[in-house]
Formats: sequence, structure tokens, C-alpha cells
Amino acid sequence: MQSPYADVREQFQKVFGAGPAGAGKVHVIRAPGRVNLIGEHTDYNDGFVFPMAIEPEVRIVCRSRPDGLVRLASTAFHDQIAEFSVQQKIARGQPKWANYMRGVAAELIAAGIPLVGMDALYSNTLPVGGGLSSSAAIEVGTGQALLTLAGVDMDGDRLALLCQKAEHEFAGVPVGIMDQTIVATGKAGHAMLLDCRSLAKQFVLLDPAELRVVIVNSMVKHELSGGEYAQRRRECEEGVAHFRKQDPDIRALRDVSMAQVQAAQGKLSDVVFRRCRHVVSEIARTTKAADLLTQRHYEEAGELMVESHASLRDDYEVSTVELDFLAEQATKVKGVYGARMTGGGFGGCIVTLCQPRSVEPLIEHLGKKYGEKFKIEPAAYVTTATAGAAAVE
Ligand code: GLA
Repeated sequence: MQSPYADVREQFQKVFGAGPAGAGKVHVIRAPGRVNLIGEHTDYNDGFVFPMAIEPEVRIVCRSRPDGLVRLASTAFHDQIAEFSVQQKIARGQPKWANYMRGVAAELIAAGIPLVGMDALYSNTLPVGGGLSSSAAIEVGTGQALLTLAGVDMDGDRLALLCQKAEHEFAGVPVGIMDQTIVATGKAGHAMLLDCRSLAKQFVLLDPAELRVVIVNSMVKHELSGGEYAQRRRECEEGVAHFRKQDPDIRALRDVSMAQVQAAQGKLSDVVFRRCRHVVSEIARTTKAADLLTQRHYEEAGELMVESHASLRDDYEVSTVELDFLAEQATKVKGVYGARMTGGGFGGCIVTLCQPRSVEPLIEHLGKKYGEKFKIEPAAYVTTATAGAAAVE
């Protein structure tokens, strides 16, 4: 059987040819996207998240260079080669898309990893800006590529933290730890309940005989660097500052109870009160949903997804009319347990848990209704949970 990576390998050859004298052997790295089943905007509040790695992925064909140069091409940006050197201080630069790669190389060097040069071609089956963590996949995939060529093994959690730092410093978005962790350390067939304070993980089996995960893209672009994400973080910090005055042991919204939130109504601004109510209720829903899915109580877990969506829409205000419509329509289909927006919000995708026999009717229903209302054809992905990023060839 032909390798699924034969095409990208061929494109790599077209762009980079035989390479300079002393070039190494060609490797292929796969880095999956992710979908979060529940636990949204909880990671930077030290809470719980429940994501899984998905089949759509970033593919990187790479080969070492002896001269320390990193030369990058992408099938999304024809005729552009981005270039920098691992032997010089790495800063942000042009083209903009290569800043994720620059950031990861800079963080690996800062962590003391002796990197070598690389020729690399990036290709995607993951939509960019669709809220399925294409940026984390690019970061973690780049990390795996550079580590593979340097002959260094790194623990996935450590790589995730370095990639998160790269995103903060080179892309300017203060993201939490969910995306990089699931992309780096996902387990095939399982969703991951991640404690974002201790980074402890619990894997929950998703039985494909009973359950399907369907992702539907609203096709409305999502831009986290738009400032809204950072603003949500500041609002949560304002909440924490208030609660800390009552109890200095409170370090994050993770440490606040629902009773404390309710008692703060009228003392906090209405906006900050609602942000806190979302986060505290969402953390509780997340651990509960993971328990319910472990026990195969799909209906109840689905109800929590629906509650999560309402909370993100009304209290956290990160949904869009398109996502609200898709989530609402999805639950009208027989055999659908639950649906909600997934990821940072402001566009992107919904995620749905349903019975296997509901997949086709669900996709058909959403395509029809969404098309009628918004004149846009939504893209659907039916996916199993996959393993985290790794060298596959
Ligand atoms: C983005 C961030 C994550 C997380 C989600 C919201 O995907 O990268 O860290 O905060 O938004 O849950």
C-alpha cells in the first residue's frame, strides 16, 4: 500500500531537491489537531479540560542540514521560503506564518537543546483558523521535527510547555496549556481529562461501537489575537483579585466555589461576575462529564455539553450566531447526545457526540439548515481520537 505521505514527500523533493552536501535522511512528522469535548476557557484558570487529538493533521517532511540554516516551505504559501539560522539569535520576522516555527526553535535553544539546520515542507489536512488548534499542531510538529533531527528525545509535557511559551512570545497570544498538551500527548481511542494545575491526566476510552465525534466548521474565521481572548483572561484575574481579599489561599478561579461566586453578585461588575460563573460552573461540568463518559452515560454527558454552550454564549460571550445555530440544530437530530462550540470561540467549530447511526443524518441536517440560513456550506469531520504528534516515517 502506498504511504499516505507519498504526496508530501514528493512535494518536498520538488521544493528542496537533493539538498546541500551532508543533508540527512528524510523524516515525516505528523501533528494532530484537537477538539475539546468540554472544559472551555478553564485551562488558564487552573481548571480541567477534556480534549482529544483528531485525525485532521499537520504533516511535516523534514531533513537535516549541516549549515544550521532552517528553510521552510508550506503548501499553503506557494513559492515562499522562510529562512533563519539556529546559530544566530532568533527573533520574529517575515513571513508571518513562520513565526510559530521561529518561536519553537528559539525556545528549544533556550532550553539547551543543540539544534541542527533543517529543510522542511508543511502541509495541512487541518483547517487553519478553524479553532481546531492548527497553531499548536504547527508548534508541536516543529518541535518534534527539530528534536528528531537533533536526535533528542523530549517528554511531551515539557515540549508542550515550550510550545506554549513560543506562542506567547512569538505569536503574542496568552494561550493556556490545553492545546499543546493534547497535541503532544494525546492517546489513540481516548479523550484526556487534564488537570491544568498539576498537568495530571486521566484517559477516558471513547468506544467507537457506541459513540461518534462529529465536528462541524461554521467556516467563520476565528482570530484569537483579536484581543478578546486576552481580555477574558484579565476579567478572570479581576475576579481572582476580589476572591483573594476574602481568602489569600485562592490562587485561581479553580479555588473558588459556586457559593462564593453567587455571594459576589452585586460586588463584582456584572461582566466579571458572569465570567466567574462560567469558569467555576464549567470546571464542575468537565470533571462530571468525564465521569459520565467513563460510565457510558452518554445522555447526561451530552446535557452537560449543551449547558456548557449556553454558558459560553450567555456568560462568557465567546460564541457567534453561526455556532449557536449549529449547536442548537445538532441537538434536534435523533441520537445526538450533545453539541457545543469548541475551542476559544469567535467562530470555528462545534463538536457533537452522537450514536454511530446518527452521523449521516446529522451532517445532512446541518448542511441543509445552515446553508439555508447563512448561505455557507459547513465542513464536517467525523473523527476518532488519535495519538499525539510523532515521527511516523
Ligand atoms: C484556545 C487556547 C486554549 C484554551 C481555549 C479555550 O484554544 O489556545 O489554551 O484557553 O482557547 O478553552
